[in-house]
Amino acid sequence: MQGPPQTGPRALLSGMLRQALPASLRLRLRKWRLGLGVPPVGGVDFGDLARTTPIAPHYGYLRGGAVDRYYIEGFLARRGADIRGRVLEVATAIYARAYGQGVSQVDELDSIPGPNVAFAGDIGTEGLLPSDAFDSIVFTQTLQYVFEPAVAVAQLYRALKPGGVLLATIPVITPLEPGDNGWLWTFTPKVARRLFHATFGAENCSIEIHGNVFAATCYLHGIVVEDIDTKMLEPVDECYPVTIAIRAVKRAA
Ligand SMILES: C[S@@+](CC[C@H](N)C(=O)[O-])C[C@H]1O[C@@H](n2cnc3c(N)ncnc32)[C@H](O)[C@@H]1O
Repeated sequence: MQGPPQTGPRALLSGMLRQALPASLRLRLRKWRLGLGVPPVGGVDFGDLARTTPIAPHYGYLRGGAVDRYYIEGFLARRGADIRGRVLEVATAIYARAYGQGVSQVDELDSIPGPNVAFAGDIGTEGLLPSDAFDSIVFTQTLQYVFEPAVAVAQLYRALKPGGVLLATIPVITPLEPGDNGWLWTFTPKVARRLFHATFGAENCSIEIHGNVFAATCYLHGIVVEDIDTKMLEPVDECYPVTIAIRAVKRAA
């Protein structure tokens, strides 16, 4: 697809410079650019992406598996051995049940009371959780709703037994949910490191970044894992993070 011709002094100058090159060199330059997969200016083929609304709303959940879940579930599956003993999970305890190994009890935490919710309230308010109670906490995709994230991280730390493990994920490049749903923050990897290192100690945290420009574009559009070759989700580009995944261990007493 050829866009409208570029105008203005810069375009004029670069056109003149190109014309000044011998034809054979111009051809080699063009082949080199195509070889890098970089279309010439005005030559980007937007295909199905030439639209101002997403291909599918709500992360593509109705279409298939959302890109963020590919990272979240991969992270939890790799860390299944950490999900053991008495486990606390935010919202429904699906991940503790799916990935846990040797789970003896699962308690649910949510801001909204419910029949299976053992701890109902704001995790950003002190005193919601008991101290030194859990071997493992699964805290996925929730910190963005908490007005006081540092209080939440400190409270999760306190609620772990010494040696207990927190597995948390945070969205970065993401569509927002429509309406007044309580979503407050967007975190960067840098602030996530500061938050968790300050409470757990850097030596007790491992913080993974997942995503690249392809993954972020797919996720924004609700293009799902069934649409794509998931190998394309694997390269990590720190400039285009989709998900931050944190494993943090409470220092043994
Ligand atoms: C998107 S869900 C995340 C958990 C789910 N397992 C997941 O991975 O998507 C967010 C959950 O956090 C709860 N929540 C929102 N704000 C909260 C807060 N301040 N304290 C505790 N839970 C909160 C919501 O009610 C909701 O159940």
